[in-house]
Amino acid sequence: MSITLYTTSPEQTRSLGRSLGKLLQAGDIVCLQGDLGSGKTCMAQGIGSGMGVAGVINSPTFVFVNEHAPVTRGPYFYHIDLYRICDLTEALTLGLEDYMYGDGVTVIEWADRAKEMMPSNCLWVRLTYRDYTERRLTLEAIGERYIALLQALVQDPAVASAQIEVSA
Ligand SMILES: Nc1ncnc2c1ncn2[C@@H]1O[C@H](COP(=O)(O)OP(=O)(O)O)[C@@H](O)[C@H]1O
Ligand SMILES: [Mg+2]
Repeated sequence: MSITLYTTSPEQTRSLGRSLGKLLQAGDIVCLQGDLGSGKTCMAQGIGSGMGVAGVINSPTFVFVNEHAPVTRGPYFYHIDLYRICDLTEALTLGLEDYMYGDGVTVIEWADRAKEMMPSNCLWVRLTYRDYTERRLTLEAIGERYIALLQALVQDPAVASAQIEVSA
């Protein structure tokens, strides 16, 4: 199942992330794909906000991972960025799989850089730059858990109002 929608401001992308973040559970993996400036970090900020985690969410570009603890309860938020990894071995060495198969929610920017390591079941979010303030976001759910997640997401009024296209 996949949905495609358009946002026309960073706030709107963050808000979509927030709606998604509220639905995420321990063990969930969200793969973000898109060029520099397409809004991956913006989306991750919304997810963290929706999950209710501590700490400022910014690009982990120089550190591989930022770990955000829940403010009150709920899973950890592992915010990973593969922009600077050179190969799969490096991703392995840095513990990518330990995060993905750990007990938190893992959100991975530039996930396509380690495509082979991504689980078959996950949520792919592909962001495309349209113009200065417009982005196209295609969310593709693979596997039962993620299809249920995406179905719940489209029920969210904030998402439903912006949603433009759903395909099986
Ligand atoms: N609709 C939009 N959604 C997300 N970001 C947007 C949007 N319109 C403009 N922007 C801007 O684009 C940039 C996205 O940056 P960022 O989220 O860091 O991208 P990435 O992590 O993909 O490199 C920010 O400067 C943000 O303000
Ligand atoms: Mg980024």
